[in-house]
Amino acid sequence: MKNNKEKNNIIAVVGLGYVGLPLALAFDKAGFFVIGFDINEKKIKNLKSGIDSNEEISKKELLKSKINFTANPKLISGTKFIIAAIPTPINEFNEPDMTLLERASELIGKNMRKDQIVVFESTVYPGVTEDICAPIMEKYSGLKCGTDFKIGYSPERMNPGDKKHNVETIIKVVSGMDEESSEKIANLYKTICKGGVHRASSIKVAEAAKVIENVQRDMNIALVNELSRIFDRIGLDTHEVLEAAATKWNFHKFTPGLVGGHCIGVDPYYLTHLAQKLGYHPQVILAGRNINDSMAYYISSIMAKELKKLGKILKKSKVLVMGLTFKENVKDSRNSKSFDVINGLKKSGIEVTAHDPLLENEDIEEYGEKNIRDFGKLRERFDGVIICVPHKQFHGLNLKDFKKILAENAIVIDVKGAFKNLFKNSHYIYKRL
Ligand SMILES: NC(=O)c1ccc[n+]([C@@H]2O[C@H](COP(=O)([O-])OP(=O)(O)OC[C@H]3O[C@@H](n4cnc5c(N)ncnc54)[C@H](O)[C@@H]3O)[C@@H](O)[C@H]2O)c1
Repeated sequence: MKNNKEKNNIIAVVGLGYVGLPLALAFDKAGFFVIGFDINEKKIKNLKSGIDSNEEISKKELLKSKINFTANPKLISGTKFIIAAIPTPINEFNEPDMTLLERASELIGKNMRKDQIVVFESTVYPGVTEDICAPIMEKYSGLKCGTDFKIGYSPERMNPGDKKHNVETIIKVVSGMDEESSEKIANLYKTICKGGVHRASSIKVAEAAKVIENVQRDMNIALVNELSRIFDRIGLDTHEVLEAAATKWNFHKFTPGLVGGHCIGVDPYYLTHLAQKLGYHPQVILAGRNINDSMAYYISSIMAKELKKLGKILKKSKVLVMGLTFKENVKDSRNSKSFDVINGLKKSGIEVTAHDPLLENEDIEEYGEKNIRDFGKLRERFDGVIICVPHKQFHGLNLKDFKKILAENAIVIDVKGAFKNLFKNSHYIYKRL
Protein backbone atom coordinates (compact mmCIF):
# COMPACT_ATOMS: atom_id res chain seq x y z
CA MET A 1 0.00 0.00 0.00
CA LYS A 2 1.56 3.22 -1.16
CA ASN A 3 0.18 5.51 1.50
CA ASN A 4 0.76 3.25 4.50
CA LYS A 5 2.87 5.79 6.24
CA GLU A 6 0.33 8.57 5.98
CA LYS A 7 -1.17 9.71 9.22
CA ASN A 8 -4.64 8.53 8.32
CA ASN A 9 -3.30 4.98 8.09
CA ILE A 10 -2.03 4.82 11.63
CA ILE A 11 -3.44 1.73 13.31
CA ALA A 12 -4.02 1.16 16.99
CA VAL A 13 -4.08 -2.42 18.20
CA VAL A 14 -5.83 -2.63 21.57
CA GLY A 15 -4.86 -5.73 23.56
CA LEU A 16 -1.44 -7.20 22.85
CA GLY A 17 -1.91 -10.87 23.66
CA TYR A 18 -1.67 -14.00 21.53
CA VAL A 19 -3.83 -12.32 18.87
CA GLY A 20 -3.05 -8.62 19.13
CA LEU A 21 0.74 -8.74 19.21
CA PRO A 22 1.31 -10.76 16.01
CA LEU A 23 -1.31 -8.57 14.32
CA ALA A 24 0.46 -5.38 15.38
CA LEU A 25 3.73 -6.81 14.09
CA ALA A 26 2.20 -7.79 10.76
CA PHE A 27 0.92 -4.23 10.23
CA ASP A 28 4.28 -2.85 11.33
CA LYS A 29 6.05 -5.06 8.78
CA ALA A 30 3.61 -3.88 6.10
CA GLY A 31 4.77 -0.32 6.73
CA PHE A 32 1.98 1.08 8.89
CA PHE A 33 2.59 3.21 11.95
CA VAL A 34 1.25 1.05 14.73
CA ILE A 35 0.25 2.04 18.23
CA GLY A 36 0.32 -1.09 20.37
CA PHE A 37 -1.87 -0.39 23.39
CA ASP A 38 -2.42 -2.62 26.41
CA ILE A 39 -3.71 -1.85 29.89
CA ASN A 40 -1.06 -4.15 31.36
CA GLU A 41 1.86 -1.81 32.07
CA LYS A 42 4.24 -4.64 32.89
CA LYS A 43 3.51 -6.16 29.48
CA ILE A 44 4.21 -2.82 27.77
CA LYS A 45 7.49 -2.47 29.65
CA ASN A 46 8.50 -6.00 28.61
CA LEU A 47 7.50 -5.48 24.99
CA LYS A 48 9.55 -2.28 24.85
CA SER A 49 12.58 -4.30 25.89
CA GLY A 50 11.81 -7.01 23.36
CA ILE A 51 10.18 -9.53 25.69
CA ASP A 52 6.98 -11.32 24.75
CA SER A 53 5.93 -13.18 27.90
CA ASN A 54 3.94 -15.62 25.72
CA GLU A 55 7.18 -16.52 23.92
CA GLU A 56 5.44 -16.44 20.56
CA ILE A 57 7.48 -13.53 19.13
CA SER A 58 11.28 -13.37 19.22
CA LYS A 59 13.24 -10.57 20.87
CA LYS A 60 14.90 -9.80 17.53
CA GLU A 61 11.54 -9.35 15.81
CA LEU A 62 10.17 -7.17 18.59
CA LEU A 63 13.22 -4.94 18.77
CA LYS A 64 13.23 -4.59 14.97
CA SER A 65 9.64 -3.34 14.94
CA LYS A 66 8.74 0.33 15.10
CA ILE A 67 5.54 -0.29 17.05
CA ASN A 68 4.83 2.39 19.61
CA PHE A 69 4.03 0.21 22.64
CA THR A 70 2.05 2.19 25.16
CA ALA A 71 -0.27 1.97 28.15
CA ASN A 72 -1.57 5.45 27.41
CA PRO A 73 -5.05 5.10 25.88
CA LYS A 74 -5.05 8.68 24.62
CA LEU A 75 -2.74 7.63 21.78
CA ILE A 76 -5.44 5.55 20.12
CA SER A 77 -7.38 8.68 19.22
CA GLY A 78 -4.88 9.71 16.56
CA THR A 79 -5.42 6.68 14.36
CA LYS A 80 -7.58 5.74 11.40
CA PHE A 81 -8.27 2.19 12.55
CA ILE A 82 -8.62 0.74 16.03
CA ILE A 83 -8.39 -3.04 16.17
CA ALA A 84 -9.42 -4.65 19.45
CA ALA A 85 -8.20 -8.14 20.43
CA ILE A 86 -9.61 -8.53 23.92
CA PRO A 87 -10.13 -11.81 25.82
CA THR A 88 -13.65 -13.25 25.85
CA PRO A 89 -13.69 -15.96 28.53
CA ILE A 90 -16.58 -17.76 30.22
CA ASN A 91 -17.55 -17.63 33.88
CA GLU A 92 -17.89 -20.53 36.33
CA PHE A 93 -21.38 -21.24 34.98
CA ASN A 94 -20.06 -21.60 31.41
CA GLU A 95 -21.68 -18.33 30.40
CA PRO A 96 -19.95 -15.63 28.32
CA ASP A 97 -18.01 -13.19 30.49
CA MET A 98 -17.81 -10.04 28.43
CA THR A 99 -16.63 -7.75 31.21
CA LEU A 100 -13.21 -7.23 29.59
CA LEU A 101 -14.72 -6.58 26.17
CA GLU A 102 -17.21 -4.13 27.66
CA ARG A 103 -14.45 -2.33 29.57
CA ALA A 104 -12.34 -2.15 26.41
CA SER A 105 -15.32 -0.72 24.49
CA GLU A 106 -15.67 1.89 27.23
CA LEU A 107 -11.96 2.72 27.06
CA ILE A 108 -12.09 3.00 23.27
CA GLY A 109 -15.24 5.13 23.50
CA LYS A 110 -13.56 7.52 25.93
CA ASN A 111 -10.53 7.90 23.71
CA MET A 112 -11.87 7.77 20.18
CA ARG A 113 -12.62 10.56 17.78
CA LYS A 114 -14.79 11.09 14.70
CA ASP A 115 -14.24 9.09 11.50
CA GLN A 116 -12.38 6.19 13.06
CA ILE A 117 -13.13 2.58 12.16
CA VAL A 118 -13.16 0.16 15.06
CA VAL A 119 -12.65 -3.50 14.21
CA PHE A 120 -13.16 -6.24 16.80
CA GLU A 121 -11.24 -9.51 16.58
CA SER A 122 -12.46 -11.22 19.76
CA THR A 123 -14.47 -14.41 19.42
CA VAL A 124 -18.08 -13.67 20.35
CA TYR A 125 -21.62 -14.73 19.46
CA PRO A 126 -23.44 -13.04 16.57
CA GLY A 127 -24.60 -9.60 17.63
CA VAL A 128 -22.00 -8.70 20.26
CA THR A 129 -20.07 -6.18 18.12
CA GLU A 130 -23.16 -4.25 17.00
CA ASP A 131 -25.48 -4.70 19.97
CA ILE A 132 -23.04 -4.60 22.91
CA CYS A 133 -19.72 -2.98 21.91
CA ALA A 134 -21.08 -0.24 19.62
CA PRO A 135 -23.64 1.19 22.12
CA ILE A 136 -20.95 1.33 24.84
CA MET A 137 -18.59 3.18 22.50
CA GLU A 138 -21.41 5.57 21.55
CA LYS A 139 -22.20 6.22 25.22
CA TYR A 140 -18.63 7.08 26.20
CA SER A 141 -17.64 8.94 23.04
CA GLY A 142 -20.83 10.90 22.49
CA LEU A 143 -20.47 9.91 18.84
CA LYS A 144 -22.97 8.08 16.65
CA CYS A 145 -22.05 4.71 15.21
CA GLY A 146 -22.64 4.65 11.46
CA THR A 147 -22.30 8.38 10.95
CA ASP A 148 -19.50 9.58 13.25
CA PHE A 149 -17.58 6.31 13.35
CA LYS A 150 -17.88 2.86 11.82
CA ILE A 151 -17.41 -0.64 13.13
CA GLY A 152 -16.35 -3.98 11.72
CA TYR A 153 -15.41 -7.47 12.76
CA SER A 154 -12.64 -9.72 11.61
CA PRO A 155 -12.24 -12.96 13.53
CA GLU A 156 -8.85 -14.32 14.41
CA ARG A 157 -7.90 -17.80 13.21
CA MET A 158 -4.40 -18.09 14.61
CA ASN A 159 -3.40 -21.28 16.34
CA PRO A 160 -0.86 -20.90 19.17
CA GLY A 161 2.33 -22.80 18.57
CA ASP A 162 1.51 -23.15 14.85
CA LYS A 163 4.07 -21.23 12.80
CA LYS A 164 2.50 -22.21 9.46
CA HIS A 165 -1.00 -20.82 9.96
CA ASN A 166 -0.81 -17.21 11.01
CA VAL A 167 -2.48 -13.94 10.15
CA GLU A 168 -0.13 -13.47 7.21
CA THR A 169 -0.70 -16.87 5.59
CA ILE A 170 -4.38 -17.68 6.15
CA ILE A 171 -7.55 -16.39 4.50
CA LYS A 172 -9.05 -13.82 6.86
CA VAL A 173 -12.78 -13.22 7.16
CA VAL A 174 -13.57 -9.50 7.26
CA SER A 175 -16.79 -7.54 7.63
CA GLY A 176 -18.02 -4.01 8.10
CA MET A 177 -21.28 -2.39 9.11
CA ASP A 178 -21.87 -1.12 5.57
CA GLU A 179 -20.35 -1.27 2.10
CA GLU A 180 -17.91 1.58 2.74
CA SER A 181 -16.50 0.22 6.02
CA SER A 182 -16.44 -3.33 4.67
CA GLU A 183 -14.39 -2.16 1.67
CA LYS A 184 -11.97 -0.20 3.85
CA ILE A 185 -11.52 -3.03 6.33
CA ALA A 186 -11.00 -5.56 3.49
CA ASN A 187 -8.36 -3.31 1.93
CA LEU A 188 -6.64 -2.88 5.25
CA TYR A 189 -6.35 -6.62 5.92
CA LYS A 190 -5.37 -7.36 2.33
CA THR A 191 -2.10 -5.58 3.03
CA ILE A 192 -1.06 -8.25 5.53
CA CYS A 193 -3.04 -11.39 4.62
CA LYS A 194 -1.17 -13.07 1.79
CA GLY A 195 -3.82 -15.79 1.85
CA GLY A 196 -6.43 -13.17 0.96
CA VAL A 197 -9.59 -11.98 2.65
CA HIS A 198 -13.15 -13.25 2.55
CA ARG A 199 -15.72 -10.45 2.79
CA ALA A 200 -18.63 -11.72 4.88
CA SER A 201 -21.95 -10.12 4.02
CA SER A 202 -22.42 -8.74 7.54
CA ILE A 203 -20.74 -8.45 10.91
CA LYS A 204 -23.09 -11.08 12.34
CA VAL A 205 -22.19 -13.56 9.57
CA ALA A 206 -18.48 -13.07 10.35
CA GLU A 207 -19.10 -13.48 14.10
CA ALA A 208 -21.12 -16.65 13.52
CA ALA A 209 -18.54 -18.07 11.09
CA LYS A 210 -15.78 -17.78 13.66
CA VAL A 211 -17.72 -19.33 16.49
CA ILE A 212 -18.84 -22.33 14.41
CA GLU A 213 -15.28 -23.06 13.27
CA ASN A 214 -14.52 -23.83 16.89
CA VAL A 215 -17.86 -25.53 17.56
CA GLN A 216 -17.14 -27.91 14.69
CA ARG A 217 -13.68 -28.74 15.99
CA ASP A 218 -15.02 -29.27 19.51
CA MET A 219 -17.77 -31.61 18.24
CA ASN A 220 -15.34 -33.64 16.13
CA ILE A 221 -13.04 -34.14 19.09
CA ALA A 222 -16.03 -34.98 21.32
CA LEU A 223 -17.02 -37.72 18.90
CA VAL A 224 -13.60 -39.41 19.00
CA ASN A 225 -13.44 -38.92 22.76
CA GLU A 226 -16.74 -40.77 23.07
CA LEU A 227 -15.51 -43.47 20.69
CA SER A 228 -12.37 -43.89 22.79
CA ARG A 229 -14.49 -44.58 25.87
CA ILE A 230 -16.47 -47.20 23.96
CA PHE A 231 -13.35 -48.81 22.46
CA ASP A 232 -11.68 -48.89 25.87
CA ARG A 233 -14.56 -51.02 27.13
CA ILE A 234 -14.32 -53.29 24.09
CA GLY A 235 -10.58 -53.54 24.60
CA LEU A 236 -9.64 -51.83 21.32
CA ASP A 237 -6.96 -49.22 20.73
CA THR A 238 -8.81 -46.14 19.43
CA HIS A 239 -5.81 -44.91 17.45
CA GLU A 240 -5.58 -48.18 15.56
CA VAL A 241 -9.28 -48.01 14.72
CA LEU A 242 -8.95 -44.39 13.58
CA GLU A 243 -5.93 -45.24 11.45
CA ALA A 244 -7.88 -47.96 9.67
CA ALA A 245 -11.00 -45.82 9.21
CA ALA A 246 -8.96 -42.88 7.93
CA THR A 247 -8.04 -44.84 4.82
CA LYS A 248 -11.55 -43.97 3.59
CA TRP A 249 -11.45 -40.84 1.40
CA ASN A 250 -14.09 -38.92 3.32
CA PHE A 251 -13.29 -39.96 6.90
CA HIS A 252 -12.11 -37.02 9.01
CA LYS A 253 -9.29 -38.02 11.29
CA PHE A 254 -9.48 -36.40 14.69
CA THR A 255 -7.75 -37.79 17.75
CA PRO A 256 -9.06 -38.04 21.30
CA GLY A 257 -7.68 -35.78 24.00
CA LEU A 258 -8.23 -33.00 26.47
CA VAL A 259 -9.94 -29.85 25.18
CA GLY A 260 -8.78 -26.91 27.27
CA GLY A 261 -7.54 -23.41 26.57
CA HIS A 262 -9.47 -20.28 25.84
CA CYS A 263 -10.93 -21.08 22.40
CA ILE A 264 -12.27 -24.53 21.49
CA GLY A 265 -13.59 -25.35 24.95
CA VAL A 266 -14.97 -21.86 25.53
CA ASP A 267 -16.39 -20.49 22.29
CA PRO A 268 -19.21 -23.05 21.87
CA TYR A 269 -20.70 -21.69 25.12
CA TYR A 270 -21.00 -18.26 23.49
CA LEU A 271 -23.23 -19.73 20.78
CA THR A 272 -25.22 -21.95 23.14
CA HIS A 273 -25.80 -18.96 25.43
CA LEU A 274 -27.32 -16.99 22.57
CA ALA A 275 -29.33 -20.01 21.38
CA GLN A 276 -30.80 -20.45 24.85
CA LYS A 277 -31.63 -16.75 25.07
CA LEU A 278 -33.53 -17.22 21.84
CA GLY A 279 -35.47 -20.16 23.27
CA TYR A 280 -33.55 -22.99 21.62
CA HIS A 281 -31.81 -25.64 23.69
CA PRO A 282 -28.76 -26.85 21.76
CA GLN A 283 -28.44 -30.59 22.23
CA VAL A 284 -25.52 -31.74 20.09
CA ILE A 285 -23.23 -28.84 21.00
CA LEU A 286 -23.80 -29.17 24.74
CA ALA A 287 -23.54 -32.96 24.64
CA GLY A 288 -20.18 -32.63 22.90
CA ARG A 289 -19.03 -30.02 25.43
CA ASN A 290 -20.05 -32.37 28.21
CA ILE A 291 -18.03 -35.25 26.81
CA ASN A 292 -14.94 -33.07 26.30
CA ASP A 293 -15.24 -31.41 29.69
CA SER A 294 -15.50 -34.77 31.43
CA MET A 295 -12.44 -36.33 29.76
CA ALA A 296 -10.06 -35.11 32.45
CA TYR A 297 -12.01 -36.87 35.21
CA TYR A 298 -12.37 -39.90 32.98
CA ILE A 299 -8.57 -40.06 32.66
CA SER A 300 -7.99 -39.67 36.41
CA SER A 301 -10.59 -42.36 37.08
CA ILE A 302 -8.79 -44.77 34.72
CA MET A 303 -5.58 -44.15 36.69
CA ALA A 304 -7.33 -44.81 40.01
CA LYS A 305 -8.95 -47.98 38.63
CA GLU A 306 -5.68 -49.35 37.24
CA LEU A 307 -3.78 -48.58 40.45
CA LYS A 308 -6.42 -50.47 42.42
CA LYS A 309 -6.16 -53.39 39.99
CA LEU A 310 -2.44 -53.54 40.81
CA GLY A 311 -3.38 -53.78 44.48
CA LYS A 312 -2.11 -50.31 45.31
CA ILE A 313 -3.72 -48.21 48.02
CA LEU A 314 -4.72 -44.91 46.44
CA LYS A 315 -3.91 -42.85 49.54
CA LYS A 316 -0.36 -44.19 49.39
CA SER A 317 0.03 -43.86 45.62
CA LYS A 318 2.00 -41.17 43.83
CA VAL A 319 1.29 -40.00 40.30
CA LEU A 320 3.26 -37.67 38.08
CA VAL A 321 1.28 -35.44 35.69
CA MET A 322 3.36 -34.26 32.73
CA GLY A 323 2.33 -31.27 30.60
CA LEU A 324 0.26 -28.61 32.33
CA THR A 325 -0.39 -26.18 29.50
CA PHE A 326 -3.60 -26.42 27.48
CA LYS A 327 -1.77 -27.81 24.47
CA GLU A 328 1.70 -28.92 23.50
CA ASN A 329 4.54 -26.48 22.98
CA VAL A 330 2.70 -23.36 24.18
CA LYS A 331 3.27 -21.55 27.43
CA ASP A 332 -0.40 -20.96 28.11
CA SER A 333 -2.00 -22.78 31.05
CA ARG A 334 -5.33 -20.92 31.00
CA ASN A 335 -8.23 -23.30 31.34
CA SER A 336 -5.90 -26.28 30.96
CA LYS A 337 -7.63 -29.58 31.63
CA SER A 338 -4.43 -31.03 33.10
CA PHE A 339 -5.49 -29.34 36.34
CA ASP A 340 -8.82 -31.20 36.24
CA VAL A 341 -6.83 -34.42 35.84
CA ILE A 342 -4.80 -33.42 38.92
CA ASN A 343 -7.95 -32.60 40.89
CA GLY A 344 -9.53 -35.90 39.92
CA LEU A 345 -6.47 -37.79 41.17
CA LYS A 346 -6.36 -35.82 44.41
CA LYS A 347 -10.04 -36.51 45.04
CA SER A 348 -9.16 -40.20 45.02
CA GLY A 349 -6.50 -39.52 47.65
CA ILE A 350 -3.58 -39.88 45.22
CA GLU A 351 -0.52 -37.68 45.80
CA VAL A 352 0.27 -35.68 42.67
CA THR A 353 3.48 -34.13 41.37
CA ALA A 354 3.23 -31.75 38.43
CA HIS A 355 5.90 -31.36 35.74
CA ASP A 356 6.02 -28.88 32.88
CA PRO A 357 9.26 -27.52 31.43
CA LEU A 358 7.47 -24.49 29.97
CA LEU A 359 5.85 -23.04 33.06
CA GLU A 360 7.02 -21.04 36.05
CA ASN A 361 5.37 -21.56 39.41
CA GLU A 362 3.77 -18.12 39.15
CA ASP A 363 2.00 -19.24 35.94
CA ILE A 364 0.06 -21.89 37.84
CA GLU A 365 -0.27 -20.49 41.32
CA GLU A 366 -3.99 -19.89 40.72
CA TYR A 367 -4.38 -23.68 40.56
CA GLY A 368 -2.56 -24.11 43.87
CA GLU A 369 0.04 -26.38 42.27
CA LYS A 370 3.82 -26.46 42.43
CA ASN A 371 5.60 -27.27 39.21
CA ILE A 372 8.85 -29.17 38.87
CA ARG A 373 10.25 -27.76 35.64
CA ASP A 374 13.19 -30.09 35.24
CA PHE A 375 12.51 -33.81 34.66
CA GLY A 376 16.01 -34.57 35.97
CA LYS A 377 15.04 -33.09 39.34
CA LEU A 378 12.27 -35.63 39.91
CA ARG A 379 13.53 -37.73 42.78
CA GLU A 380 10.55 -39.92 43.67
CA ARG A 381 9.28 -43.25 42.41
CA PHE A 382 5.82 -42.82 40.98
CA ASP A 383 3.11 -45.46 40.80
CA GLY A 384 1.77 -43.82 37.70
CA VAL A 385 2.47 -41.14 35.18
CA ILE A 386 -0.07 -39.30 33.03
CA ILE A 387 1.39 -37.55 30.01
CA CYS A 388 -1.38 -35.05 29.37
CA VAL A 389 0.43 -32.76 26.93
CA PRO A 390 3.45 -34.16 25.06
CA HIS A 391 5.69 -31.09 24.73
CA LYS A 392 8.63 -31.55 22.37
CA GLN A 393 10.92 -31.40 25.44
CA PHE A 394 9.49 -34.81 26.40
CA HIS A 395 10.28 -36.42 23.06
CA GLY A 396 13.92 -36.99 24.00
CA LEU A 397 13.02 -39.02 27.10
CA ASN A 398 13.79 -42.73 26.85
CA LEU A 399 12.68 -45.77 28.80
CA LYS A 400 15.71 -45.46 31.08
CA ASP A 401 14.62 -41.96 32.06
CA PHE A 402 11.14 -43.21 32.92
CA LYS A 403 12.50 -46.25 34.77
CA LYS A 404 14.35 -43.89 37.09
CA ILE A 405 11.11 -42.29 38.23
CA LEU A 406 8.66 -45.17 38.01
CA ALA A 407 7.96 -47.84 40.60
CA GLU A 408 8.40 -51.50 39.58
CA ASN A 409 4.68 -51.81 38.90
CA ALA A 410 3.41 -48.61 37.39
CA ILE A 411 0.74 -47.31 35.05
CA VAL A 412 1.51 -45.00 32.15
CA ILE A 413 -1.39 -43.07 30.66
CA ASP A 414 -0.21 -41.38 27.51
CA VAL A 415 -3.23 -39.26 26.63
CA LYS A 416 -2.17 -38.42 23.08
CA GLY A 417 -0.38 -41.69 22.33
CA ALA A 418 2.94 -39.92 21.79
CA PHE A 419 5.02 -42.61 23.52
CA LYS A 420 3.52 -45.79 22.15
CA ASN A 421 6.80 -47.14 20.80
CA LEU A 422 8.70 -46.31 23.96
CA PHE A 423 6.47 -48.38 26.22
CA LYS A 424 5.58 -51.10 23.70
CA ASN A 425 7.85 -53.79 25.11
CA SER A 426 8.11 -52.49 28.65
CA HIS A 427 6.40 -54.23 31.57
CA TYR A 428 4.54 -51.07 32.53
CA ILE A 429 0.78 -50.98 32.04
CA TYR A 430 0.48 -48.60 29.13
CA LYS A 431 -2.76 -46.92 28.11
CA ARG A 432 -3.65 -44.23 25.67
CA LEU A 433 -7.06 -42.77 24.92
N1 LIG B 1 -5.21 -17.06 21.40
C1 LIG B 1 -5.73 -17.63 20.35
O1 LIG B 1 -5.20 -18.61 19.83
C2 LIG B 1 -6.97 -17.11 19.70
C3 LIG B 1 -7.30 -17.58 18.43
C4 LIG B 1 -8.44 -17.09 17.83
C5 LIG B 1 -9.23 -16.17 18.51
N2 LIG B 1 -8.89 -15.74 19.75
C6 LIG B 1 -9.73 -14.75 20.41
O2 LIG B 1 -9.06 -13.50 20.39
C7 LIG B 1 -9.39 -12.76 21.57
C8 LIG B 1 -8.11 -12.35 22.30
O3 LIG B 1 -7.48 -13.51 22.77
P1 LIG B 1 -5.94 -13.58 23.19
O4 LIG B 1 -5.60 -15.02 23.27
O5 LIG B 1 -5.12 -12.70 22.33
O6 LIG B 1 -6.00 -12.97 24.65
P2 LIG B 1 -4.76 -12.62 25.60
O7 LIG B 1 -5.24 -12.80 26.98
O8 LIG B 1 -3.54 -13.34 25.13
O9 LIG B 1 -4.50 -11.08 25.34
C9 LIG B 1 -5.40 -10.09 25.56
C10 LIG B 1 -4.68 -8.82 25.94
O10 LIG B 1 -5.68 -7.81 26.10
C11 LIG B 1 -5.29 -6.99 27.16
N3 LIG B 1 -6.46 -6.25 27.63
C12 LIG B 1 -7.48 -6.66 28.40
N4 LIG B 1 -8.36 -5.65 28.56
C13 LIG B 1 -7.87 -4.59 27.88
C14 LIG B 1 -8.32 -3.28 27.66
N5 LIG B 1 -9.45 -2.83 28.19
N6 LIG B 1 -7.57 -2.47 26.89
C15 LIG B 1 -6.41 -2.90 26.36
N7 LIG B 1 -5.93 -4.14 26.52
C16 LIG B 1 -6.66 -4.98 27.27
C17 LIG B 1 -4.68 -7.92 28.18
O11 LIG B 1 -3.83 -7.22 29.07
C18 LIG B 1 -3.92 -8.88 27.25
O12 LIG B 1 -2.60 -8.45 27.05
C19 LIG B 1 -10.32 -13.64 22.38
O13 LIG B 1 -11.65 -13.33 22.06
C20 LIG B 1 -10.00 -15.03 21.86
O14 LIG B 1 -11.09 -15.91 22.02
C21 LIG B 1 -7.76 -16.17 20.37
